[in-house]
Amino acid sequence: MTSLCLRRPDDWHLHVRDAAALAAVLPFTTARFARAIIMPNLKPPITTTALALAYRERIRAALPAGSGFEPLMSLYLTDVTDPAEIARAKTSGVVHGAKIYPAGATTHSDAGVTDIRRLDAVLARMEELDLVLQVHGEVTDPAVDVFEREPRFIDEALAPLAERHPRLRIVFEHITTEAAVSFVLGARAGVAATVTPQHLLMNRNALFTGGIRPHHYCMPVLKAERHRAALLAAVAAGTPRLFLGTDSAPHGRRAKEIACGCAGIFSAHAGIELYAEAFEAAGALDKLEGFASCHGADFYRLPRNTGTITLVSEPWEVPASYPFGTDELVPLRAGERIGWRLAAAAE
Ligand code: DOR
Ligand code: ZN
Repeated sequence: MTSLCLRRPDDWHLHVRDAAALAAVLPFTTARFARAIIMPNLKPPITTTALALAYRERIRAALPAGSGFEPLMSLYLTDVTDPAEIARAKTSGVVHGAKIYPAGATTHSDAGVTDIRRLDAVLARMEELDLVLQVHGEVTDPAVDVFEREPRFIDEALAPLAERHPRLRIVFEHITTEAAVSFVLGARAGVAATVTPQHLLMNRNALFTGGIRPHHYCMPVLKAERHRAALLAAVAAGTPRLFLGTDSAPHGRRAKEIACGCAGIFSAHAGIELYAEAFEAAGALDKLEGFASCHGADFYRLPRNTGTITLVSEPWEVPASYPFGTDELVPLRAGERIGWRLAAAAE
């Protein structure tokens, strides 16, 4: 049995929701990660520092006893975000970024940004105050093929934005395509990306294996094999521009297994183990620690964690579901095996 001791990792892209859902999912993350960027797409969204501070307190109140987990907050940008809000966010010390959701791109994005050019004053303020911009990078024009939305966003929105704001630090969230890999690797300094476990482990065939698979549906949607291979090769090469962001996005079974199901894959129950599988398959387990525990902290200019976790290569069977308020949650790999198990964690 191989064992792997890593510096304690962080999750740079996480959805924990609120209330009963929050209480149900948070312990999975805190068992593994020291910190996480908490995505602000609640309903209503976290658009101000005051809302972020209150949400942070609800998360802290839901922490398992004795947990030192630190929620890192993010603001949801809208067409009417006031540049003064950016200064309040920066001063708070607990808001570490602000996120662009193109309106209509994904779950709870209807309040998002309709025209990125309208954000220029806000982005200029973020650049000046050095607050990280997080971007859901897909165009929303329904006429654009769903598999082309990320490459189109790079050309039409992200590349010009990065040029207009040359000192703005940007995280291109949950990248899924060859185009995104080459954009990020070739971009100016201050551009990085998160990569999810599902986009490293699965291609779009996983949406249709033996029938339609709603629990493999997320946004951006899974892509063709050559894109998965490009992502895996890029993380396996150890570039500091790529880091861990699970995008674990819980929706109850009833919201997934219906005629028009929600986008989102729940992976927090194995939020580091799944990456260990991917890196092992690429022959790059030695690059896992940088990706999971160093590159993100360095990019966000936060100290690296001092604790550790231990993983062992010992397959375990994922439960068919977990409790989730009045519903239940079907996790990634439900009823199947994962090759790595969390054996210990120390703060
Ligand atoms: O699949 C997704 N689910 N993608 C997102 O961008 C949002 C997320 C959610 O909040 O459910
Ligand atoms: Zn997300």
